[in-house]
Amino acid sequence: MSALIELDDVQVHFKVRTRRSAAPVTLRAVDGVSLAVERSRCLGVVGESGCGKSTLAGVLVGLRTPTAGHVRYDGQDVGARRSKDLRRRIQMVFQDPVASLNPRRRVRSVLAELIDCHDLVPDAGMNSALASLMEMVNLPPRVLDARPRELSGGQRQRVAIARALAVQPEVLVADEAVSALDVSAQATVVNLLADLRADLGLTIVFISHDLGIVRTLCDSVAVMYAGRVVEEGAAETIFTAARHPYTRALLRAAPDLHRPGTMQCAPALEGEPAGSLDVLTGCPFQPRCPEAEAACSLAPPPYVGSGSHRTACIHAADHPRFGSDLVV
Ligand SMILES: Nc1ncnc2c1ncn2[C@@H]1O[C@H](COP(=O)(O)OP(=O)(O)O)[C@@H](O)[C@H]1O
Ligand SMILES: [Mg+2]
Repeated sequence: MSALIELDDVQVHFKVRTRRSAAPVTLRAVDGVSLAVERSRCLGVVGESGCGKSTLAGVLVGLRTPTAGHVRYDGQDVGARRSKDLRRRIQMVFQDPVASLNPRRRVRSVLAELIDCHDLVPDAGMNSALASLMEMVNLPPRVLDARPRELSGGQRQRVAIARALAVQPEVLVADEAVSALDVSAQATVVNLLADLRADLGLTIVFISHDLGIVRTLCDSVAVMYAGRVVEEGAAETIFTAARHPYTRALLRAAPDLHRPGTMQCAPALEGEPAGSLDVLTGCPFQPRCPEAEAACSLAPPPYVGSGSHRTACIHAADHPRFGSDLVV
């Protein structure tokens, strides 16, 4: 099956000022990411804060233009200026529904304006379109007449999802969309996303630091570190047969993957990620890696893997399941 969205060696650099140097320096927020998401699939993107997940989300939805590399949608190269129709097709749901919804406007007017803007429904059909949007996100029709502040956090996030769905998108990019919610609201929103995918065939890119949720929702997972994808594979493979030392450390430190009382989770990873400002010739994880050896600082590790599982670590090649197939 061909990919609906493809990123090919995408880089996003920012010029930033630091105390260490007078001239602006380059921060590589996204540093050569290649990914493909097939239609109706759900890709999870995980990694510590600052590793470039939101910048990558911005590239996917067209809020950021890559410094280098290509984005393809349905086989077509996407330029710096996206058509209105393409912008409609890829929608984002943000972490904070309070900040992303205008507190003064009623839900009905926000949704109706979007539907109008894209001429998606004739005027006579507006009320039933709005009612079916509420039904899609499991909210009662009276929410249409509410303002965001009159709703709970979980309801607001469902309104934010309704807003994304109002323009009949093909892809939802959810950037930490459930992170600010309490556990029961999280479960409601995650179930909703799973249903939308099953019912509407939506393609979802789900960015989260909650590995437990990623495991329940996603088909495949990309693990990012310092602007790069260090490991990618089917969700079950990542959760049961991860090869990258960083992925394994993340999994060990994830409380949400261990049932209380059955397994002690390991302390979080020690040290700080190498700053994206630092020029590292080798593997970006090498300064924190328990398995690092001299060769790791010489050159960025190529991807090694089999099938859809790839790992950017020289040690991954030693694993018998991989042999020495080089993916890239
Ligand atoms: N507009 C910007 N200008 C300068 N640096 C930025 C900007 N946006 C993000 N960054 C930097 O890029 C890196 C990646 O940020 P981000 O994509 O937000 O990571 P994440 O979402 O994984 O926490 C961070 O070092 C962040 O400080
Ligand atoms: Mg972020």
